[in-house]
Parts: sequence; structure tokens; C-alpha cells
Amino acid sequence: MSEVPQNAAQKTFYLETFGCQMNVHDSEKVVGTLVQEGYRQVETVEQADLVLYNTCSIRDKAEQKVFNRLADYKKYKKQGKTFGVLGCVAQQEGEKIFERAPYVSLVCGSASYRNLPNMLIQIEAGKQRVTGLDDRETDECFETEFTARTNPHRGYITIIEGCDKFCAYCVVPYTRGKERSRTSDSVLAEARQMADLGYTEIQLLGQNVNSYKDPEGKPGARKTFAELLAAVGEIPGIRRVRFTTSHPRDFGRDIVEAIDAVPTLCDHVHLPVQSGSTRVLDAMQRLYTREQYLERIAWMKAAKREISITTDVIVGFPGETEFDFAATLNLLEEVGFDAVFAFKYSPRPNTPSLRMEDAIPDDEKARRLEVLMAKQREIQTIRYKKYIGTRCEVMVEAKNEARAQWVGRTSHNKTLNFTAASKPRLGSYAAVNVTGSFPNSLLGELVV
Ligand code: SAH
Ligand code: SF4
Ligand code: F3S
Repeated sequence: MSEVPQNAAQKTFYLETFGCQMNVHDSEKVVGTLVQEGYRQVETVEQADLVLYNTCSIRDKAEQKVFNRLADYKKYKKQGKTFGVLGCVAQQEGEKIFERAPYVSLVCGSASYRNLPNMLIQIEAGKQRVTGLDDRETDECFETEFTARTNPHRGYITIIEGCDKFCAYCVVPYTRGKERSRTSDSVLAEARQMADLGYTEIQLLGQNVNSYKDPEGKPGARKTFAELLAAVGEIPGIRRVRFTTSHPRDFGRDIVEAIDAVPTLCDHVHLPVQSGSTRVLDAMQRLYTREQYLERIAWMKAAKREISITTDVIVGFPGETEFDFAATLNLLEEVGFDAVFAFKYSPRPNTPSLRMEDAIPDDEKARRLEVLMAKQREIQTIRYKKYIGTRCEVMVEAKNEARAQWVGRTSHNKTLNFTAASKPRLGSYAAVNVTGSFPNSLLGELVV
């Protein structure tokens, strides 16, 4: 970023990101593109000429957050600032955003970011409203030569965009469009480039990485997702490889075999289950049964290393009975997850479940969420205690000055806060003796 000379006349931008890791990584692409165009990133809206929100519409609350933010900043319009809405709310609401927030001049979905420079030129030329909403079928949005990664040690690489699963509750297929995989050659070239720059951890990203299909190469030479994963893990200099998100329907045994064969592949899999009741899974159009989900868990439990498993759950899907909910609680017990991201079902525009009968009242959804989280807390309290007395390798991620502790992350994706007699370097790998545990983190001491 510092290669671009700074001067007083330089245009500035502020960018705030909501939503999932795909959005976080998209923002790194947007920052890189704008910096290349001569813009400078600033920390506050006050300092910025251009104010951008990279938005999420997965649940109603996420969407509301964006409109509240926009309403807050109405006053800045008088100061000549330009407002833009990017990401999933932009793609979902399209030009309707101009009506709800008339001071917005740019609305752009994630597949059109490569056109941002051109859109900004149009705004500078006096055009009031500019949109980029059209490229979801074709544009891969994988242009990465300018990507401004914020962390110098671990970085994301997009391997597949969009989603073809159309779960009954989900906006993603509408906001991010059809599945488009990137060639394995290009993923590997980027991973090698990152390794040369000193990155040691890579996280492969996609809404459904398991349906990755290498679009180029001779038949037979095209890489499956598991082969791509292993190939990234074998790049010299790369010490950790993660991937997210997996869909149980497409999660193959070959992924577990790859984790067994390649030590740099992290011993952690995030496999969203959504519900423990086959009846609800069917209504959600998840394309697997409880038993099939548990079969995948059994593959992981049979791995050579213990694989840490985390999941997502939705409570209060239309028609979810007490019996269905009890099946979900029982599944949590049976699997023993190391983290559960649980959400109250939120009805979303364009999705089939919006029209389903037997909606669950909000206070009942809230009750189920609370019960589920209390149960999972108990499970995690026991699971995390098992690490006391063991030694874990962490990547040193930050220092918590207030607590005089360092923050590390284990290969199985747990936060391990530790004290250290000698100062560890950020981004380095260190051995830590685990001395204590909480339901969501571990405590330890650096091994000298
Ligand atoms: N592609 C990922 C999920 C991405 S969205 C997958 O298939 O697993 C992240 C999580 O948000 C989902 O796993 C689901 O638990 C939750 N979610 C998605 N739509 C939702 C909705 N309408 N209401 C509540 N939670 C939702
Ligand atoms: Fe949404 Fe389902 Fe696709 Fe995940 S797999 S992004 S939940 S439609
Ligand atoms: Fe949200 Fe879009 Fe990600 S809806 S969860 S930002 S794909």
C-alpha cells in the first residue's frame, strides 16, 4: 500500500465489512483495487471521501445493521461524501437501496468488484447512481494481483464462488450466484506466491468448498478438492492449511485421507449440520439425513489424528417440533463438537422457507437457542478440560496488553492465551503447555 505516494489531494476511502470470511476476503480485494487506483484507506468515516459498506444479508439482523449504519451517516452527505453499498445486501436489494437510502450512489455485488474503478469514474463524472449487479453467472472475481491482505502470516484464497445448493432458508445462492470454481493451477500459483512472501498459513475459501470442480486441465489431471488441499499443504513454507465451508452432502472420505496423509492440513473441520432431525433437514432441503451426517463424523473420528469438529445450527425452522429440537440436542451430545454457531431461524427474501407454514414464535426460538447454547457450553467445558497438561503448537496471533498474555491459535483452531517469559514474535509458531481451560479457550505457558 505504501508504494502509492501520499499527497493532500489524494482521495480517501473508509470500508467497513460485515458477514462471513468470504466478505472479509472480498474486502481485501476491494482495498487492493482502490489503492491501485490511487485511493488511500482511512480509519474513520469523517476522514473519507468515499464510504463503503461490504454487507451481509444472511439474517434479518445483519441486514438491519447496514441500514442503521446508513441512516446514521445521512448527515455526511452534505459534506460531499460518496456512499456505496457492496456485498450481499447490495446484490439482494439492488436499486431498491437507492429508495431506502437516497444518499447512496453506488450499489455493487461481489461479482462486479473488478468494475469498481470504472464505476467510480462514472460517479466522479457526475452520475448520481451507479450499479454493478450483473456478472454473477460469469465473473469469477478472482483477480488477486492487487489483493491487500491485512495479515502478513495467514491469508485467504478463494477457490470457489457462489452456491448451487439452494437450502430452503438461505439467501447465498441469490446473492452470490452460481458455483464457479477457479483452476487448481491458479490457486496453487497464488499459494506459492504467498509462501514466497512469508505466509505460513492458508485458508481456502468457498460457500461450499466440497463441490469444487477444477475447470481446466486434461480429464484425469483435474484436481479434486482433496487433491487441491493436499497440493497446497505440500508447498514448501506452508505450515497450516484450513478450509471453509464444507457441506455434508459433498464431504468425501478423501478429505479425511488427505488430512491423514499431509501433516500441514489442520486437524479441524467445520461441517454445518443445521439440525439433528432428518425431517427438518428434509424441509430445509439439506440433501442428507441425520445418519449420513453421523457417518461423516465417524470417518473423521477414525482419522489418525483427532480432528476437531465444529458446526452451525439453526433453531426454530418452520415446523420444528420439540421432538425435532430434542434430536438436535442429542446430536450435539453424540458428536461432541468443539464449537457450535447457533442461530434463530430468520425468514429471508426470495427463499422458499419464507412461505412455509408453522412458523415458530420468536420467544420460543429464543428459548431453544438458549437451551442449546447452555447444553453446548457444558459439552465444551468437558472437552476443553482434556487439554490441560498437554502441549500444543500455536501460531502467535496477538498480544493482549491488558492481561499481559499472548494470543495463539492451535492447529485444531482453538484460542490458547498464554504467558511468556521471553517475547514471542507475531506470526511465529511456539510450543505452549496448557495449564487451564474455559468453554471457549485454553490457557497456558510458553515452553522456553
Ligand atoms: N455455506 C455454508 C453456510 C453459510 S451461511 C453452509 O452451507 O454451511 C452460515 C450459517 O448461517 C449457516 O450455516 C446457517 O446456520 C446460518 N443461516 C443461513 N441462513 C439462515 C437463516 N435464514 N436464518 C438463520 N440462520 C441462517
Ligand atoms: Fe446457503 Fe445452503 Fe449454500 Fe450453505 S449450502 S450457502 S446454507 S444454500
Ligand atoms: Fe453474509 Fe453474504 Fe457471507 S449473506 S454470510 S456475507 S455470503
